[in-house]
Amino acid sequence: MDQAAYWVLVVARLICTLATVVLISNALWKLLGRPYVVTRSLRRQGIRGPPCRFAVGSLLEARRMLAASRADTLDVSCHDYAPVVYPFFQKWTADYGKTFLFWWGPTPCIISTDVALVKKVLADRTNLFQKVHYFNPSFKSILGKGMLLVNGDDWKRHLKVIHPKFNEEKLKYMSTLVSEGTRRMMEEWYAQIQNSKTDQAEIDMMRDSDELTQGVIGQMIFGVNNKEVHELLVQGMKDPPIPGFRYLPTRRNRRLAKLDKFCTSKIMQIMKAHLAEGSYGDGLLGLMLEAYALDNKTLSIEEVVAECKSFFVAGQDTAANLLTWAMFLLSNYPQWQEKVREEILLECPKEGEAPSTDVLKKLKLLKMTVLETLRLYNPVPFIMRKTACDTNVSNIKVAKGTRIMIPIGMIHRDKEVWGADSNEFNPMRFDKGNNASSLLAFSYGPRVCIGQDFAMVEVMSVLVMILRRFAFSLSPKYVHRPRHRVVLTPKYGLPLIVKNVLQLDGYDYCD
Ligand code: HEM
Repeated sequence: MDQAAYWVLVVARLICTLATVVLISNALWKLLGRPYVVTRSLRRQGIRGPPCRFAVGSLLEARRMLAASRADTLDVSCHDYAPVVYPFFQKWTADYGKTFLFWWGPTPCIISTDVALVKKVLADRTNLFQKVHYFNPSFKSILGKGMLLVNGDDWKRHLKVIHPKFNEEKLKYMSTLVSEGTRRMMEEWYAQIQNSKTDQAEIDMMRDSDELTQGVIGQMIFGVNNKEVHELLVQGMKDPPIPGFRYLPTRRNRRLAKLDKFCTSKIMQIMKAHLAEGSYGDGLLGLMLEAYALDNKTLSIEEVVAECKSFFVAGQDTAANLLTWAMFLLSNYPQWQEKVREEILLECPKEGEAPSTDVLKKLKLLKMTVLETLRLYNPVPFIMRKTACDTNVSNIKVAKGTRIMIPIGMIHRDKEVWGADSNEFNPMRFDKGNNASSLLAFSYGPRVCIGQDFAMVEVMSVLVMILRRFAFSLSPKYVHRPRHRVVLTPKYGLPLIVKNVLQLDGYDYCD
């Protein structure tokens, strides 16, 4: 071996050794050093939590509690789902107080149900508490860099393009889509009732809400109902939380990669057609394209594609589940269903059409019902932030990289905020606008849900149309078991009995 080759080998070995030392020290710090330092620092400040086990943190204990409650179901009148959905949060809050430390594997997490602390974190405008998600890595890579996942200046750039598009005009366009979709759904119910000998039909509200909201958001974004995008996102969510998993050459992964490519190219095709025509269309995609074409290409084409997927994720399952849970509660409380229906019949003269936003504003009982649904069965039951550097929140020193978990579903049951009846269904608690500011269903602060008006108008409009026409109750087959899977859903669907009881002014619905 000549002299030069010898030195190359020595340097290469040195680099490899150094890299190995750095990797091992980093791993040791994460697995042993950081848990010790962070736990000691927080203990000194009075923040305690379940023990941190080597590499797995507190996850095994959480899993054990989840497994023990897996088969449990609730009585339909019980709205305190914490014992079955978050048995670990419930136990640890009881053991360690409102703010405690929990180890998500080797990552420290502070969980807090203290509204003042949570609001301080969410109100941050300095990018100190960055948004993070518990989505698996495959799903994040499918979503790309859309508004849901970006932080800092990137997020401001996206917001600048998107925010002005979510205006009253857009809500009007959406109302037409909602009314068309709801009519189709109700026509099916009507046909089912006509074909039955009992003058009633059993429907699965979860499935129907899913289909309806898919159609609305698909039309809203792309101008067409894009079933492939839905399929892609649903499949992506199911991947295990292992980095790089999606690159394993399994049959499922190959199929998912093909579907991802297909969806991206389909979105691109729609975009190219719009750009060639110079007319961008009414959908959200069109509005982003307009910004792309006219506004110095503020968003790149890849970002527009990512934004379409993000809005689909953020706006479909959430609205579907809000509608489903509202129907669950209205079925469970028939007197309340009757009261809301009376209000609708008084204020909405037109059958078979989505009400205008002006009419919706008059439907106070309906709005309070939806707010109470958001409190008890919020589709997004917890969100997360991560500290960008060592910082202080509510006088607690928090190390860089600590996650702050905000269990909205638990906060919404806090008796100090909501009173002794916090686990009861009582829409009147929102009478005269009180309590609305404590509702965190759409989050709070600068990263508040951009689609909240959209979701409220969509869900309220569908409920108006259904309540005018049908009476409904829980099917005896219904099993009450909320489950958290990205969003909060009824684990066994929502079978309902619908009756076409309202023969209004001789109006025959299917004419
Ligand atoms: C019942 C329905 C909905 C609920 C409960 C809901 C809830 C939320 C929550 C809690 C966040 C904050 C997440 C976080 O801070 O980590 C959020 C963000 C977001 N939501 Fe919604 N959402 C709903 C419907 C919608 C709809 C219909 C759309 C769009 C059409 C939408 C678009 C978004 C977007 C783009 C964000 C990210 C905003 C940002 O990071 O600046 N959401 N939503």
